Amino acid sequence: MSDMKGKICIVTGSNSGIGKETALALANMGTTVVLAVRNRERGEKVRVEIINETGNHATDLMICDLSSMDSVRQFTKEFMGKYDKLDVLINNAGAIFNKRQVTTDGFERTIAVNYLGHFLLTHELLTILKSSAPSRVINVSSGMHKTGNIDFDDLQSERSYRGMKVYANSKLMITMYTYELARRLEGTEITVNVVEPGFVATNLGRNSGSRLYSLMYRLMRPIQMKAKKGAETSVYLASSDEVKSVTGKCFSKQQQTKTAQITYNQEIQNRLWYATMELLGLNS
Ligand SMILES: NC(=O)c1ccc[n+]([C@@H]2O[C@H](COP(=O)([O-])OP(=O)(O)OC[C@H]3O[C@@H](n4cnc5c(N)ncnc54)[C@H](OP(=O)(O)O)[C@@H]3O)[C@@H](O)[C@H]2O)c1
Repeated sequence: MSDMKGKICIVTGSNSGIGKETALALANMGTTVVLAVRNRERGEKVRVEIINETGNHATDLMICDLSSMDSVRQFTKEFMGKYDKLDVLINNAGAIFNKRQVTTDGFERTIAVNYLGHFLLTHELLTILKSSAPSRVINVSSGMHKTGNIDFDDLQSERSYRGMKVYANSKLMITMYTYELARRLEGTEITVNVVEPGFVATNLGRNSGSRLYSLMYRLMRPIQMKAKKGAETSVYLASSDEVKSVTGKCFSKQQQTKTAQITYNQEIQNRLWYATMELLGLNS
């Protein structure tokens, strides 16, 4: 375990489930955790809980709604005005929606929250991650990525939409993005890895708009692991010396694991990179 005292970590979606437990564990190690959440009230409740439980008063809260690219840019601007380094970025937030929704930027909402928002967040924080190196980026994916696909002619799922399928597509994208970014950052001492947390009892599905998803998740509670256990691999990647030089890998249960064969296709990784840069209006 690295000495985490004095390190600065951002955890997105840290007011609930896996993100909350990740933030709690890191705060317990003496890290300054920035809870990057979309709702101040829900976030503040958790910030107080974490401070009470860990005694770590450095726990901070900043608003970042990953469905809004303006909110992501505002967050990074405020973060860089407040902090002069970033040791660990954990792109954890995620959501699933039963019906297709479009964000204010015109993006399909699942892809916006689970992939595009995190891509932009990381992109905007690269300068500070580089100047803070060695630093780590951890993306939270899902084993569901194996059922996803990337249709470059329909990245916004306009032609057909099924909540679970689009969720899987977004997780496939963030997995492939992890591998591409890791390759692009070789030699910078920024590591980039991806996590499959397993089947975890959280609030995922609560905002899906589907009674079926919510019921399904509730019924599966007995076979799901607790959120604290689900957070272990993210915490391991953020803090362990064992992985300080490991990059471009997927981890589950604190072990390296293989992802779907397609995720290793560098041509598709690269194509996805450029398609995303274009969607977000970023220059290469
Ligand atoms: N639970 C599982 O079995 C499982 C399995 C594989 C992967 N995962 C992944 O694990 C990660 C954490 O999910 P979880 O299971 O812990 O679910 P969760 O309890 O629902 O937590 C998801 C977090 O993401 C946040 N979020 C949703 N939309 C957001 C937005 N627009 N902007 C910023 N934050 C937003 C939520 O905030 P609000 O409370 O404001 O909605 C919440 O804090 C996700 O990436 C999920 O896909 C979970």
